[in-house]
Amino acid sequence: MRTFWVRTAMTLLLASGGCLTAGDLTAGSEKAGPVPDPLQQGRYLVRIAGCNDCHTAGYARSGGRVPDSQWLTGEALGWRGPWGTTYPVNLRLYMQNLSEDEWVVRARTMRTRPPMPWFTLQAMTDADLRAIYRFIRHLGPAGQEAPAYLPPGIAPPTPYVLFPAPPDQGEAPR
Ligand code: HEC
Repeated sequence: MRTFWVRTAMTLLLASGGCLTAGDLTAGSEKAGPVPDPLQQGRYLVRIAGCNDCHTAGYARSGGRVPDSQWLTGEALGWRGPWGTTYPVNLRLYMQNLSEDEWVVRARTMRTRPPMPWFTLQAMTDADLRAIYRFIRHLGPAGQEAPAYLPPGIAPPTPYVLFPAPPDQGEAPR
């Protein structure tokens, strides 16, 4: 468990270091020039907000070396804790069922189970949320639906990451 988080933290550090040197994907504040292409902005946000870390199979474990064509197609690695077992959804399929405006409303109001950082989406501007939507729609539908959520007490048939219960709390907030 600890090894997983150390490795994840290292991956995130390496990934952010990589962003600083990847000039073509760097946001406007880093470099003079025209406003970034909206799709590049969405790609940049998806990378730095860590969406791939959970929603792209093998992304964190390979140090981010997964081609865009496989990005955000969901993950069959479960996250098990007091909330049950959750699976990062296939965002390439998820976005097909939503208009851009519906996505903005959804992102502003969603409360998921852990470890999805729904509060990160709420910290984003509408422009950021729209850029993310356009980039994911640009990638197009791909892959299969992720496994369905399992309630506490059901043993997942897939590999999973186990979270211990917090010391004085049986149930994580929803
Ligand atoms: C730490 C892992 C993790 C990260 C990072 C993460 N997600 Fe998730 N995400 C999940 C999990 C797990 C679920 C399923 C939650 C559930 O079943 O309640 C999920 C669910 C979702 C959903 C579906 C919500 C719903 O129920 O309608 C969306 C949309 C989503 N994530 C988008 C994103 C975006 C965009 C990012 C990047 C900003 C992101 N996620 C980052 C793990 C993560």
